[in-house]
Amino acid sequence: MTNTILSVDQLTQVVSIGQSDQTTTLLKNISFTVQKGELVSIVGPSGSGKSTLLYCISGITRPTGGTVAIAGINPYQLKSNQLAAFRRQTIGFIFQQYNLIQSLPVFENVVLQQRLSHQQPQRAEIKQLLTKMNFAGQIDGPVATLSGGEQQKVAIARTILTDCDVLFADEPTGALDSASKAIIFTYFKGRL
Ligand SMILES: Nc1ncnc2c1ncn2[C@@H]1O[C@H](COP(=O)(O)OP(=O)(O)OP(=O)(O)O)[C@@H](O)[C@H]1O
Ligand SMILES: [Mg+2]
Repeated sequence: MTNTILSVDQLTQVVSIGQSDQTTTLLKNISFTVQKGELVSIVGPSGSGKSTLLYCISGITRPTGGTVAIAGINPYQLKSNQLAAFRRQTIGFIFQQYNLIQSLPVFENVVLQQRLSHQQPQRAEIKQLLTKMNFAGQIDGPVATLSGGEQQKVAIARTILTDCDVLFADEPTGALDSASKAIIFTYFKGRL
């Protein structure tokens, strides 16, 4: 049985810019594999393509060239409903911009994935998780008025609750203070 959870082969992303025929190459011939339990950091300056790469290798954005296999499955060969189910079951993604639903309170944002997967959220478990993360906001309050770091904790808590095989995190601690970072990274290591 293979231990490879993610396999990326000759991944290339070329996008058109403006109204013209002009294109720009954001990613070029990237190949690597990730084994189960491995923790991988993608490091680069702002604008170097880290988010673009994460979107391409996680089934969010179809690359213009190369192949991606997550748990042996090429997400870009799935039909849209199969892809949605595959992503729910296999992939966790913490977005750089949090991707919270502003009209829903903190609790509903945290349990969103669970609801989509028809799981019953456990309020006590969620309260405990948020407390562990030093979340200072109100569990039934709006997310819109939370600070950047608090919103990030809500986004992280949502992903921690899912039972994913691969967790993609796009600068997940950028808005957090250093004390929170240590806790969260420890948690991630345990889960991956
Ligand atoms: N669809 C697109 N069309 C044109 N250019 C794009 C597109 N998507 C991303 N870019 C450009 O590609 C470059 C890489 O963007 P990306 O968001 O992947 O960088 P990043 O490494 O994540 O940066 P940061 O550290 O600031 O988050 C940027 O210059 C961005 O403007
Ligand atoms: Mg980015």
